[in-house]
Amino acid sequence: MSSLKRVLMLAMVAIFAMAIMAACGTKTANNNASEPIDTGLPADTINNEAFKDLFPLQYESFYATEDMSDTTYGGSVPTSKFDLSKEPLLPIIFNGYGFALDYNEDRGHAYAIEDNTKTLRINDKSPGACLTCKSTAVPVLLKEENLGDAYWKANFRGEVIPAAEEMGHSPIGCTLCHDPQTMELQVGLPMFAKAMEAQGIDISNPTKNEMRTYVCAQCHVEYYFDPSNKGEVTFPWDNGFKPEDMYEYYQTIAKDKGFAQDWKHNVSGAPMLKAQHPEFETWIEGTHGKAGVSCADCHMPYERSDGKKKVSSHNWTSPLKNIEASCRTCHADKTAEELKSNVEATQETHFSALHKAQEIGVSAHYYVNRMITANAPAAKIAEAQELVRKGQWFFDIIAAENATGFHNPQGAMDSLKTSSEASSEAIILATEELVKLGVNIDELKAEIEKATNAVLNEQDTTKKRDHVTNAFFPAQQ
Ligand code: HEC
Ligand code: HEC
Ligand code: HEC
Ligand code: HEC
Repeated sequence: MSSLKRVLMLAMVAIFAMAIMAACGTKTANNNASEPIDTGLPADTINNEAFKDLFPLQYESFYATEDMSDTTYGGSVPTSKFDLSKEPLLPIIFNGYGFALDYNEDRGHAYAIEDNTKTLRINDKSPGACLTCKSTAVPVLLKEENLGDAYWKANFRGEVIPAAEEMGHSPIGCTLCHDPQTMELQVGLPMFAKAMEAQGIDISNPTKNEMRTYVCAQCHVEYYFDPSNKGEVTFPWDNGFKPEDMYEYYQTIAKDKGFAQDWKHNVSGAPMLKAQHPEFETWIEGTHGKAGVSCADCHMPYERSDGKKKVSSHNWTSPLKNIEASCRTCHADKTAEELKSNVEATQETHFSALHKAQEIGVSAHYYVNRMITANAPAAKIAEAQELVRKGQWFFDIIAAENATGFHNPQGAMDSLKTSSEASSEAIILATEELVKLGVNIDELKAEIEKATNAVLNEQDTTKKRDHVTNAFFPAQQ
């Protein structure tokens, strides 16, 4: 887009936002956070119940996130990602890591703590850092007089959860986004500001519109636990937000800090990275991010809750459930049906490209396993493992994003292409070595299909991972 067009779009968005605020008319102290107000609550309030009587409409809307309903690709019905309709190859893709045991689609904020404590990925050794993006207790626990930096590695089940429960914490509650006394928007968790500063972006004086994204960006991002800094949750953004920028970070800065991998893959033995929900990074490089359309514009539209007052919806879910309020405010030239089919067409293309990239990635793991059992030269195995790591990063960072391509259709396709290229290179390299060693490639392909089918046919999601390795493809851990 030309810069002139961009400036015009930004101006339009700003005018539109002002029009909405004007349309909201009477601002009572009670329901508009843009005027500093005094709630009379103590500064250390962290429980949602404290806000219930003061802001009943937002409170009620918040707990509407308990409702469960799906859209074609998204939504909030609890669903395993291993489901045949989702990404059934994941037990192979994450083999040797907790994500091969239990990995679910995201759902409503109200369930964040429940889902966090119940996932089979959490065990008796899990660190406190796992609670970071779920609970209002975290900023308090991070204070020096409490756990301070020891929070990150403190025991999740033994120490952190009991302390948070004792404080009466709430899942992704009001105080992670609002100052409890003035209700002004705030970024409750400390990692986001640090990561932006590392990239040279000053967020000390954000605009209101920026805050409508930043409050979400404290959690909806890629991260890792930095071993050089007490296991602190850290965002890999020093080189930028694109998948290739973050990969570069993991290949250099993270390695220098002592973080080489999340786990060693059980099939290929490759040093792997696991990507997490990078909605912010994907959005910022997409059309809407570049035009300054915030997360809240689409995910928190103004709605009339009790027939009188308009409030920002606190029911964070798929905007496709309410296209009228989420999209047509700006795209009035299109019908809701047109917008929906537009989004779904993008998602369909995206989803099939993702599956293709995952299939190639899975083959690459098995080809490297065969290199190991056929005694290929160690340097060639290491080279192929690097390509497998790269191939998987470039599809996983896209798969872990929850909008199925919508937040940045082109960026997602670019990343999937890089992924398929790297995985294919691994397969070509492996094939060359295996042919030299007289390995039967047709037999290898048949064995890959056999193992894959065994995973797909297993009904118990927790047992799928057991079919990934076998006598032909021995485990590498
Ligand atoms: C232009 C509108 C728009 C903007 C801006 C936007 N999103 Fe989305 N978001 C969508 C759409 C459309 C989907 C796809 C929903 C579906 O598949 O049902 C989506 C999906 C999601 C999902 C998954 C929802 C689900 O049902 O599982 C999350 C999480 C999400 N967005 C977070 C964010 C965050 C965080 C930001 C800001 C960094 C953001 N979005 C910006 C429109 C938007
Ligand atoms: C994930 C972040 C987030 C959480 C959690 C959150 N809010 Fe908000 N809230 C926002 C955003 C963003 C706005 C829009 C602010 C704006 O643009 O002026 C908002 C607006 C408001 C407003 C101003 C009036 C309006 O509706 O726009 C009130 C009051 C409010 N929230 C109350 C609450 C209460 C009560 C809770 C807890 C039950 C809560 N919020 C939880 C992000 C959040
Ligand atoms: C404190 C961390 C945190 C903050 C802040 C946060 N989220 Fe989330 N969000 C999560 C987690 C964790 C989940 C998944 C919860 C689950 O599956 O149990 C989630 C789920 C979602 C979903 C999926 C809901 C569904 O129906 O599938 C959407 C959409 C979403 N968030 C949007 C937003 C937006 C927009 C903002 C900012 C206004 C925001 N979130 C702020 C942590 C956060
Ligand atoms: C606050 C205003 C605003 C909201 C809300 C909004 N958009 Fe947009 N949308 C824009 C702007 C600005 C552009 C970029 C300029 C253009 O190409 O028209 C855009 C572009 C698009 C495009 C074309 C570019 C692309 O990325 O494919 C689609 C499709 C689209 N929007 C769909 C949606 C959908 C679906 C929703 C609701 C989930 C939505 N928009 C919500 C302002 C908005």
